[in-house]
Amino acid sequence: MPLNKARISPMDRGFLFGDGVYEVMAQVDGRIRAKSLHAQRLRSSLDSIGLETSIEQVFTDVERLTKKVGFSTAKIYVQVTRGTADVREHAFPTIVSPTIFITISEFEAIPQFASQAIVRPDIRWRKNHIKSVALLGNVLLMQEARDSAAQEAILYRGEYVTEASTSNVFVIRGQKVVTPPLSDLILPGITRHLVIEIAQLLGISVLEDNIRVDSLPEADGIFLSSSTRGLMPIVSLNPGGCVGNGELTSTFLALQHAYDERLRCYE
Ligand code: PDD
Repeated sequence: MPLNKARISPMDRGFLFGDGVYEVMAQVDGRIRAKSLHAQRLRSSLDSIGLETSIEQVFTDVERLTKKVGFSTAKIYVQVTRGTADVREHAFPTIVSPTIFITISEFEAIPQFASQAIVRPDIRWRKNHIKSVALLGNVLLMQEARDSAAQEAILYRGEYVTEASTSNVFVIRGQKVVTPPLSDLILPGITRHLVIEIAQLLGISVLEDNIRVDSLPEADGIFLSSSTRGLMPIVSLNPGGCVGNGELTSTFLALQHAYDERLRCYE
């Protein structure tokens, strides 16, 4: 239906409590990129919050809608919340009927330009492996980036980098690529997963290891990964200044090229 005809109750728990999860997928040349991995992650997010929903039905609806809308290149957003209840009560309702919201909007998949990032403490909650719709921390951090004329905010807890406000972080050191290990502090990014696979295919060694935030300015290169922006190079940090010599490294360019190629054949 047209967006302005869609209605969601003000008693929806997604609205009242941020009680829901979501997925963002990119469709390029008519194909949803890494669909099976997104389906797996949605299943895992739903399981983590104890919300029963048929993933098969969600993806049947996504397929039906993408066909109906007919965009070749689109951003697909799927949100599942714990539905509505008559009273505002934190604990789950006894009977749950999830609200499922799917939007498909046309977008252009363009290679990312050399960008800037602010570096800030990770102010978010402790379960960032769940793709929760409660994104206030991420929203505030991204706005801070925008207010500083940067494109992203790279985050750290204690001494170590976690991820960025809407993407995962990779650091290039010589011929090696390092990314923080999976834990409840970061989202298991689908693009992160693909970058690791691709690096291995290219013979580039990848290390899943902690990255000290104070080591960022000494990196030869830094890039961020997400489904909608692909691989985004960061050439300047605030604070921290120029990354490497401020140019894109050959390792980054090889990975970016291989990523685009690989996605053409990934189910
Ligand atoms: N963001 N980390 C965070 C906090 C994210 O929000 C995202 C994605 C990622 C990268 O995940 P993936 O490679 O699966 O897209 C990492 C999406 C694009 C968004 O919320 O719009």
